[in-house]
Amino acid sequence: MTELVKLPHFVSVENLSTDQITSLIERAEYFKKGGATPELTKPVYVTNMFFENSTRTHTSFAMAEKKLGLTEIPFDSAHSSMSKGETLYDTCLVMNALGVDLTVIRAKENNYYNALINPGEGQHLELGIVNGGDGSGQHPSQCMLDIMTIHEKFGHFDGLKVAIVGDITNSRVARSNMEILTRLGAEVYFSGPEYWYDHEFDKFGKYLPFDELVEEVDVMMLLRVQHERHDGDANEATFDAADYHKKYGINHDVYQRLKKDCIIMHPGPINHDVELAGDLVEAPKSMFFKQMQNGVFMRMAMLEAVLRGRKLGGLE
Ligand code: CP
Repeated sequence: MTELVKLPHFVSVENLSTDQITSLIERAEYFKKGGATPELTKPVYVTNMFFENSTRTHTSFAMAEKKLGLTEIPFDSAHSSMSKGETLYDTCLVMNALGVDLTVIRAKENNYYNALINPGEGQHLELGIVNGGDGSGQHPSQCMLDIMTIHEKFGHFDGLKVAIVGDITNSRVARSNMEILTRLGAEVYFSGPEYWYDHEFDKFGKYLPFDELVEEVDVMMLLRVQHERHDGDANEATFDAADYHKKYGINHDVYQRLKKDCIIMHPGPINHDVELAGDLVEAPKSMFFKQMQNGVFMRMAMLEAVLRGRKLGGLE
């Protein structure tokens, strides 16, 4: 067992060492096998502040918190005083003053967390921040649960061929995953509409036609077409779901051509018959629900890292 991870905040995967990533996977697998959770000698209070809609991430963090014995303080973003103009920083100060120890935040602004984890002169915020997704920036818990799911299937990352397919420029999941997977030794490929691909990703992998990847890859990582992020995108007006499905989606013919051990991943929610045929969502190669299940255990490991990093609950 590698050393347990300790972090003051968990906002990104970029600064994690390979040892820390390995340790978090091991810890999540340990929790999944029913391993005991650390004994808290003091109460720990946590809020989940979600300013963008979420089913999986929000509920999964709530479940992970419950399993770790943390006390969740409810927060309703739609009815919070941010609707009256209170800033996110001030809202966090409120949580601090009320005795909250750490918060999981999802926000639509990229890098919203920088102002929270690096308070300026005269600012005194003392709250552990866990990033539940920032705009098109990062989605560290989704990345970590994805790599846990890949590790669970293959036992390693070296030389695995992973295709990331779809609305890549708008995807925080893709950004987090391409960096980590490359670092762990996987070969990353990209596909999907060229207008949703940016050459800034070239340093992580090769962009290829979808058809060339179908029979070659070990992991087919599909991304949701994120219509809510397409304001001002000229391609949105002409988007044709059936055409997308034909060119970049997994239908029954494509499914049959995948390698025997290939797995299909999707962060969810799935657009049925766009990224994946609706009647393949629960197919044997689909890891969709396995990813969610693993997400609870990975989020336990991530929260534990912040508890230890901040010496909360009497943990070191
Ligand atoms: N994958 C993901 O972030 O899903 P939710 O938006 O439902 O949390």
